Amino acid sequence: MLKIENLHVRYGNIEALHGISLYVKDGEFVALLGANGAGKSTTLMSIMRLLPPVAPVVSKGTISFKGVDLLSVAPHHVVARHGIGLVPEGRRIFGNLTVMENLKIATYARKDSGQISRDYERVFSLFPRLSDRKNQRGDTLSGGEQQMLAMGRAFMCGAGFILLDEPSMGLAPLLMQDLFRVLKELNESGTTVFVVEQNSHIALKYADRAYVMETGYIVMEGSAKELAKNEEVQKAYLG
Ligand SMILES: Nc1ncnc2c1ncn2[C@@H]1O[C@H](COP(=O)(O)OP(=O)(O)OP(=O)(O)O)[C@@H](O)[C@H]1O
Ligand SMILES: [Mg+2]
Repeated sequence: MLKIENLHVRYGNIEALHGISLYVKDGEFVALLGANGAGKSTTLMSIMRLLPPVAPVVSKGTISFKGVDLLSVAPHHVVARHGIGLVPEGRRIFGNLTVMENLKIATYARKDSGQISRDYERVFSLFPRLSDRKNQRGDTLSGGEQQMLAMGRAFMCGAGFILLDEPSMGLAPLLMQDLFRVLKELNESGTTVFVVEQNSHIALKYADRAYVMETGYIVMEGSAKELAKNEEVQKAYLG
């Protein structure tokens, strides 16, 4: 479904990604692990074509999604035509819009209105707390509720593919588990998931496969089970 080959991205003179390759198959749950500054967000933002417009340049490599070369797609078409849903770092929900309006925004380019109604129902059944708060403003939600809303909004983009940038950040452990459980549930009913995490414990618990990234390189890859047992991964990332 998604295939990145030999991707190099630079910010000005500094190269942040030194030729990474990875793939996510239809229906998979894949994690990209790495410490601060490894290049995880840069990878996601390259897929979404949301790199800041000033310096960064994809200097080499390819990104394809369902056979389409994403690097030749206008940034606003990544969501509008291809429906890729992003849960960005820090959630970025619209504080002055209600829960319902935040979800609705994600559907602006969709034309499958029957499916859209079913997708709303799905979001509200996965997250009953959002259902109780449909008309509440985004900025009055708790951090956990905001993360639920960001996930719901990404799902409402409709491609059956969602990218998440460190969804566990700032959440209490129990809530983290709840959110990953919902993510797994979505995945088991057909949504493909690509999640970036520093929290390897939780990511390897729920993912099928994972990549480990260090300073702009992919240094390891394998099934989540294998990586969780791997000594180097344990030392570096699992404490
Ligand atoms: N706008 C920018 N301008 C210049 N350099 C940048 C910019 N954004 C990121 N970088 C650099 O690119 C590298 C990768 O950053 P990135 O944000 O992708 O890391 P990350 O793995 O997401 O880290 P974190 O876990 O802290 O979010 C870092 O060295 C960072 O300093
Ligand atoms: Mg990041």
